[in-house]
Amino acid sequence: MKSLKMLLSLLLIGLCADLAVAQTMETRDMEHRIDLLLHQMTLEEKVGQLVQYNYGDVKNPEQLVRRGRIGSFLNPPADAGEVNDLQKIAVEGSRLGIPLILGFDVIHGYKTIFPIPLAEAAAWDPELSEQAARIAATEATAEGIRWTFAPMVDIARDARWGRIAEGAGEDPFLGSALAQARVRGFQGEDLSDPQSVAACLKHYVAYGAAEEGRDYNSVDISTRTLREVYLPPFHAGVEAGAVTLMSAFNDLNGTPASANWFTLTKVLRQEWGFQGFVVSDWNSVGELLNHGVAGTPAEAGAKAITAGVDMDMVSGIYADHLVELVRNGTIPVSVVVRAVRRVLRVKYALNLFDNPYTDTRRAGREILNPEHVNFARKAGTESIVLLKNERHLLPLDKSVGSLAVIGPLADSPYDMLGSWHARGNPKDAVTVLSGIQHTVSPDTKIRYARGCPITGDSTAGIAEAVDAAAVSDVALLVVGEGADMSGEAGSRAHIDLPGVQEQLVRAVVNTGTPVVLMLVNGRPLALPWEAEHVPAILETWQLGIQHGNAVADVVFGDHNPSGKLPVTFPRATGQEPLYYNHERTGRPPQAENKFSSKFIDIPIGPQYPFGYGLSYTTFKYSNLQLDQSSIGPGGTLTVQADVTNTGDRPGEEIAQLYIQDVVASLSPPVKELQGFSKISLKPGETRTVTFTLGPKNLGMYNQEMKDVVEPGEFKVWVGPNSTAGLEGAFQVVRR
Ligand code: BGC
Repeated sequence: MKSLKMLLSLLLIGLCADLAVAQTMETRDMEHRIDLLLHQMTLEEKVGQLVQYNYGDVKNPEQLVRRGRIGSFLNPPADAGEVNDLQKIAVEGSRLGIPLILGFDVIHGYKTIFPIPLAEAAAWDPELSEQAARIAATEATAEGIRWTFAPMVDIARDARWGRIAEGAGEDPFLGSALAQARVRGFQGEDLSDPQSVAACLKHYVAYGAAEEGRDYNSVDISTRTLREVYLPPFHAGVEAGAVTLMSAFNDLNGTPASANWFTLTKVLRQEWGFQGFVVSDWNSVGELLNHGVAGTPAEAGAKAITAGVDMDMVSGIYADHLVELVRNGTIPVSVVVRAVRRVLRVKYALNLFDNPYTDTRRAGREILNPEHVNFARKAGTESIVLLKNERHLLPLDKSVGSLAVIGPLADSPYDMLGSWHARGNPKDAVTVLSGIQHTVSPDTKIRYARGCPITGDSTAGIAEAVDAAAVSDVALLVVGEGADMSGEAGSRAHIDLPGVQEQLVRAVVNTGTPVVLMLVNGRPLALPWEAEHVPAILETWQLGIQHGNAVADVVFGDHNPSGKLPVTFPRATGQEPLYYNHERTGRPPQAENKFSSKFIDIPIGPQYPFGYGLSYTTFKYSNLQLDQSSIGPGGTLTVQADVTNTGDRPGEEIAQLYIQDVVASLSPPVKELQGFSKISLKPGETRTVTFTLGPKNLGMYNQEMKDVVEPGEFKVWVGPNSTAGLEGAFQVVRR
C-alpha cells in the first residue's frame, strides 16, 4: 500500500491539471449538467457508472440497470429494438435516468467487413481508412452500438504476435496518420450524430512489444522507445479527438499497463490533456493479482483507479470494492468522482442523454447496403500488394483457356473475414474461387482442388491438385493462415505456411505450370522458397466480404495493384522482431565480414522490406530538390521529387520520404518514414510529390527525454520503399 500512497499524492496534482483543462475545453453547460447529476448520485450510483459487464454473462442485466449499478455493457444484443429496451430501463426506469453506453469490437467493419487493419494499412490511404471506419460506424450505430473498441493503434514489430493483424503495422508515422483517420471516421464530425461511435485507442500501451511476440507477455523497453515508437499513434489519436482509451494487459518495465500512473495520468492527462475516459481491457484490473502487484482484488481496484483506469471491463472489482475503498479512506471520493465525470462527458458528447434510442428502421436500410459493399471491394483492391511478377505473368487475360484454382483458402468464406470480424457473416463473403468464376470468360475452364487443409498433415489431396495444375494454363494457389490464426491469442512460433501447405506449393510449382501464389494471412510470413521459386506472388491478406472480387480485379488487371507493405517480411522467423527503423549497430551487416551483425545461415536483410510493393507498370523517380540546404532547429524545409509512370498502363504509386539524423547524441534509427503521398499517373505522365519537414519530423528524444531537434546533417530519401530512392542531404544549424 506504500506505493499506493505515493500514487495518490501524484494523483492530487494530476486532478488539478485535469480540471483546469476541462474548464477551457468543454462547454460550461455540459460540465454544469454533470455537476448537478454528480450532486444527486449516491456513492453506489457513482461506482455503477464505472462498471462494465459482458452482456451475455450477466444473469439479470435489467435489475443492474434499474438500480443504477452499471454504466456500460459490451457485446449487447445485435438488435436495435432490444438495445432500445435495455436503454429504456436506464433512461426511464432508473432513479437518475443515466443512459448506458454500449460497446462492441467494430474493428474492420460491422457486417460489411473490410480488409483487416494491417491489410488496409497497405493502401497507405488515410481517406480510405476514414471512409471504411465511417461506414463501420454507420452500420454499428444502426444496431444501437455507440462505442467501438477501435482503432487498435499498437505498433507491432514482431510478426509472431498475432495481433499485428489488428493494427497499422510497424511504423509510428504511418500508424499515426491511420490512427487519426480511423478516429475521424468512427467519430465523424460530431459525436452527437446518431451515426457516430466513440472511438477507443487501444491497447495503451506498448502491448505490441510483448517478448517473444507471445500474446499477453511482458514488455521491457526503454522510455525512449516508448516515446518514439509506441506512444505516437496514441498521441495522434488523442489529438484527433478520440474520447476513450483502453489500458492494456501487459506490464511495461514491471508496471502493468492497467496500474500505470506514468502512462495513464502523467503522459495521457498531464502532457496530452486527454478529457475522455479510460476503460480497462477485459479483466485487466483483476489480472493485477496475476502480475503480482496486488495481493487482493480490493488492492487491484485501488491501484487501477488511482493510476487512471476509469471503467472496469468485466472484472467486477470496481463493483465489489470501490464503495468500501472510499468508505474506509483508502481512496478519496474525488478519485471516483473524477472518473465518473469523464464517463458522463462521453455520454453527453454522444448525446445519449437527449437522444438515447436508435431508429429501428435504420438497420434494414444501412447495413450491407450496396454502397458499403462496393467500398469494401475498393478497399480490398487497394490493400493488395504485388510482391513478385516475373516475366509479367500478371495480369492474366480474362479469356485464358484454363485455370487451376488450388489451396485450402481458395474457397473458404469464413477465413476471408479475418480476426475480429464483428457481426460479419461468412455467407456474405466472396471467396477467391467465386470471384474468379464471376470474372473470367464463360469459356475458361476452371479446375478447383483444395489440395490440403490449412493446418494438419494430410497430404491426401495434393495429387488431385497436381493433376489439376498440370493440365491448366495457369495455377492460382491460395495458401496461408486461417482467420483464427492471427488476432488475439494468435501468436505463432513459426511464421511460415502452416501444415503441409508448403509441400502443396512445391508440388504444384514442380508441374511447370506458371503459378500465381496468393497469400491469405494476418501477419508477415517467412517464405524464402516461394520468394525464389514462384513466378508471381500477391499478398492478399484477409480482405473481408469482398475478398474474392478484389483479388479477381487485380489478377485480371481491372485494378493495377498499388499496395505497399506496412510491415517488414522476414526470411526466417528467427529474425523477429524485424523492422526497418532500427538503431545503428557498431558493426553493420556486411556479406564478406563474418564479424558483422548478421546471421550465418540466411542472407542479410528482410525478404521484402517495409514500404515495398510492385505495380503492373513501372515508376521512375528523378529530380530530387530541397528548397534549402540548411535550416534552424525550429525551421521547415520542402522536399520535392518527380515521379514518372514509365510503363504502359495507368497506375498509382505511393511515394515515400525517409530521413536519417546522421550524427546525434543517441544512436539514431537508420531511416525513419516522415512522409508519403499516393499519386495516380497515366502512362508517360510525370508528377511532382512535395513534402514538408519540420521539428515534428526531425525531433528525437534525447537522454533527458526531451523532444529536441539536434543540429547536424540529415539525409533524406524519396523513393518507392524503405530501401530505395533518391538521396539528398541538408543541415540543421544553430541560429
Ligand atoms: C481484447 C480487446 C477487446 C476486448 C473486448 C479483449 O480480450 O484484448 O482488444 O476490445 O477483449 O472484447
